[in-house]
Amino acid sequence: MGIFSKLFSKNNPSGSDIPEPVLVDMHSHLLPAIDDGVKTLEEAVAVVKEFVKLGFKKLITTPHIMGDFYRNTPDIILSKLDQLKTRITNEGIDIQLAAAAEYYLDESLIAKLQRGEKLLTFGENYLLIETSYLNAPANFSDAIYLIKQSGYWPVLAHPERYQYLYQSFEKFEEMYEQNISFQLNTNSLLGYYSKPAQLYAKRMIEKNMVNFIGSDCHNMKHIEALAKTMKLKEYNEVSRLYLFNNTLLNT
Ligand SMILES: [Fe+2]
Repeated sequence: MGIFSKLFSKNNPSGSDIPEPVLVDMHSHLLPAIDDGVKTLEEAVAVVKEFVKLGFKKLITTPHIMGDFYRNTPDIILSKLDQLKTRITNEGIDIQLAAAAEYYLDESLIAKLQRGEKLLTFGENYLLIETSYLNAPANFSDAIYLIKQSGYWPVLAHPERYQYLYQSFEKFEEMYEQNISFQLNTNSLLGYYSKPAQLYAKRMIEKNMVNFIGSDCHNMKHIEALAKTMKLKEYNEVSRLYLFNNTLLNT
């Protein structure tokens, strides 16, 4: 099956109603002091241990890359990843670690794409992108086109949190119809961020508009909330959808 047909298939390939445990988290901020995520290696290790307790087998951590605030590069991210991996191995913690990035959709990302710079991706060249929470990005369709032309598959982080999509659910559906993947922040189901985000998260499940789920874990508070979220019936429901998280296990 090609990427397009796979990402838009609405059927659970196993044909089963039994939710599969989600073993791979693909959105977090666990590399110390390079964005607004964990601040120290100790904090990172403590959070990773909590992921292990919750049953995760692999974490793909995704520091912010943003033209103005977080000028992270693949070199910075991968060298920080090495440090964390070494600690995890030394402490005998049983989990796979990898890194990609969460790219803010701004002029600097467009410039990188136009220059043909190699971006940090996960799985089958999936590119995690985010937009402003308040304002709709200008020329979103053009940016998506450029991302695809450059050989990446866009995965929009936490669409349920973008306030510019709250005017109508149709706007939200139009975004999805641009043939991109949606990554739900799991804690949205708990109402962790806001009521509207929780409402949209539930509608995404009802309408089968979730391709990936992610913790977007920045700190211990987020992982504690995740432990609560994982006990909700909505978490069970989202695990029954055709999610791509577990396809990332051996990539
Ligand atoms: Fe994030």
